[in-house]
Amino acid sequence: MKDFISQAKEFTDINSTFTLNDGNKIPCVGFGTWKIKENENGEQIIVDAINSGFRHFDSAALYKSETSIGKAIKKSGVSREKLFITTKVWKDDLCPEKARLSLKNSLQDLQTDYIDLLLIHWPKASKKDSSWQEKLAVTWNEFIKMRTEGIVRSIGVANFLPHHFAALQSDILPCINQIEFHPGYLQEEAYNYSIKHGILVEAWRPLGQGGLINNELVKVIASAHNRSVAKILLRYALERGVLPLPKTTHLERMLENQKLFDFALSEKEMSDLNNLPLCAWSGEHPDNAIPWDD
Ligand SMILES: NC(=O)c1ccc[n+]([C@@H]2O[C@H](COP(=O)([O-])OP(=O)(O)OC[C@H]3O[C@@H](n4cnc5c(N)ncnc54)[C@H](OP(=O)(O)O)[C@@H]3O)[C@@H](O)[C@H]2O)c1
Repeated sequence: MKDFISQAKEFTDINSTFTLNDGNKIPCVGFGTWKIKENENGEQIIVDAINSGFRHFDSAALYKSETSIGKAIKKSGVSREKLFITTKVWKDDLCPEKARLSLKNSLQDLQTDYIDLLLIHWPKASKKDSSWQEKLAVTWNEFIKMRTEGIVRSIGVANFLPHHFAALQSDILPCINQIEFHPGYLQEEAYNYSIKHGILVEAWRPLGQGGLINNELVKVIASAHNRSVAKILLRYALERGVLPLPKTTHLERMLENQKLFDFALSEKEMSDLNNLPLCAWSGEHPDNAIPWDD
């Protein structure tokens, strides 16, 4: 398998594919769906995303976006096999029974009988969770079973730092690690570990959730290329061999976020972006600042 940076050099559009360590292929830019449920037009936003060209959708049981995605797929008329759908099992469901039930509910809401990619959403339920290692091992084992049964095509993890991987206790490596990744918060240790083990990194919050759009350095690079800041940030991820998952509710931005393949960043620009001081960080951390910790 070619390394991910070399694979990305050959991409010509958002539906060019990375090849994963299990041999499956994944479109190189995905559409994020966090907070889509809070928008009353959720279903129409996904229909627009499909009609504009997106074929890869990142969802999660937590996001409650799956019902809108399921309805939008039916409405769009695009056949299921042409789409790539990710969902995730939330941190409170890290045991075989709950993980399986979570997947069953996701399949129902998405109106489909298989998921392209299933992820463990977060490695630990809470800071105080002393049994997180056992929970990851049994859940991962169940993920492997669900993959063997064919209801899931590929399996992976999210928000994993290097020390979390050993807890899976398996020779079968995740094919994806989905982490917060953008200039100003690059998590180089998680990135380097993943790349070294042939695990593709997916970038959540690739635009810093909008927080990088007015960043002075990125604005200078954008103006030098006569491109938008969003395009620079998404292109940056691809040039690092990382798969970005931008989310937008606006059709014009959906189109903008796809035009990433007619320019390239210089070594100096990549280096400047690599060295951007901490900014636009969500404040979340896999072990120390866990969302909805109790
Ligand atoms: N695994 C995890 O733990 C985890 C955590 C967080 C997120 N995620 C996934 O990653 C996806 C992306 O992360 P995110 O939604 O937090 O943040 P993001 O994609 O970095 O940023 C989304 C924000 O950027 C704006 N935006 C999008 N395109 C733009 C453009 N071309 N120009 C200007 N502004 C633009 C959007 O505004 P409008 O919508 O108003 O256009 C929205 O406010 C999520 O939707 C979710 O699927 C995963």
